[in-house]
Amino acid sequence: MQQARNTIELTEKYVLQTYSRFPVSFIKGEGAILYGEDGKEYIDFCSGIAVTNLGHCNPLLVEALKEIAQTLWHVSNLYYIPWQAKLAELIVKNSFSGKVFFCNSGAEANEGAIKFARLWGKKYKRGAYKIITATGSFHGRTLATLTATGQDKVKRGFEPLPEGFVHVPYNDIKVISKAIDKETAAIMLEPIQGEGGVIIPEVNYIREVKRICEEENILLILDEVQTGIARTGKLFAYMHFDITPDIMTLAKGLGNGVPIGAIVVSEKVVDAIEPGVHASTFGGNPIATRVALEVLRIVIENELWDRTNELGNLILEELKEIEDRVVEVRGKGLLIGIELRNKSSKEVAMDCLKKGLLVVPAGEKVVRLLPPLTIEKDLLIKGLSILKESI
Ligand SMILES: Cc1ncc(COP(=O)(O)O)c(C=O)c1O
Repeated sequence: MQQARNTIELTEKYVLQTYSRFPVSFIKGEGAILYGEDGKEYIDFCSGIAVTNLGHCNPLLVEALKEIAQTLWHVSNLYYIPWQAKLAELIVKNSFSGKVFFCNSGAEANEGAIKFARLWGKKYKRGAYKIITATGSFHGRTLATLTATGQDKVKRGFEPLPEGFVHVPYNDIKVISKAIDKETAAIMLEPIQGEGGVIIPEVNYIREVKRICEEENILLILDEVQTGIARTGKLFAYMHFDITPDIMTLAKGLGNGVPIGAIVVSEKVVDAIEPGVHASTFGGNPIATRVALEVLRIVIENELWDRTNELGNLILEELKEIEDRVVEVRGKGLLIGIELRNKSSKEVAMDCLKKGLLVVPAGEKVVRLLPPLTIEKDLLIKGLSILKESI
């Protein structure tokens, strides 16, 4: 207990207060269990917000990390990096034809995607540069990605914002065509909005957006930072809609906790990008790509998306019991949102925490569940019973 207080005091004193944190600190993780500095055990339905999809300290990933830690940590992108090359191949062979740029986070991946879309617009669309994004979206905290984000609270105080971003309501196909003009380079969307409260669009929405993009010759950028790596019951969420994006961004679950981001660029865009236009010191370094290679291998070889669906359906079934106490339970795979009626999301998350369960607020009224895809069924049921009691 004393140790936990020390951590909290030290953090408040020396770490810049940009987060509002829950009063708990963790010192160890194993699968879907986190061990607190307070001596308590917690069931993890947060996964570091969709990062540790394969659980904490997954033994196969620990082996991969140990192996690369004893082999090579970092070399510059001035040179060729074997694990980076293999990871790019694995991503492309399991998504769509194109090439990959590696970076370190979701915001960086989206920032790069925006830059690439502008380069494409310059080269192939008479200087088109505008990006259409959706209200309620979340794309990151860099200047361009917070401008792309469709939530005022992340922009406040940072004006003047970069030019060229247009916002339209999500899941409303009628407004898309009206928002397009000759300067539009791309439409950027989350295939399912995560931070915005787990908003699942109509299947036809994403398909229609893709059709409009083809018709108007503009790019479709899908931000799969949260939805990628089997989180929603397919390896990538775009696969629910039988389309492929022109650019896809990844991060979070790709490294299971080792920081990595990726921009997957389809053939349509590849030629707009030349040496020297974008770079990152750490992007795709041996440590990150060796671990991500193992993450992706495990997910693909075990077809983990099937388990995601099975467990997701189990959660939806279990939560039928509280249907009349909430506005809605919605989800795809293991990205599940519970829209609350009487309580706030913070209140429920805090109560769950006291009872040994981590859940994630998404806005004022939605509690998000993002358990590891590898969580054992009995632990899942145990966590759900805590959640039901709290709601
Ligand atoms: C859809 C989406 N895009 C981008 C980001 C930003 O990622 P990062 O925090 O790694 O910069 C997030 C983070 O929550 C996200 O959910």
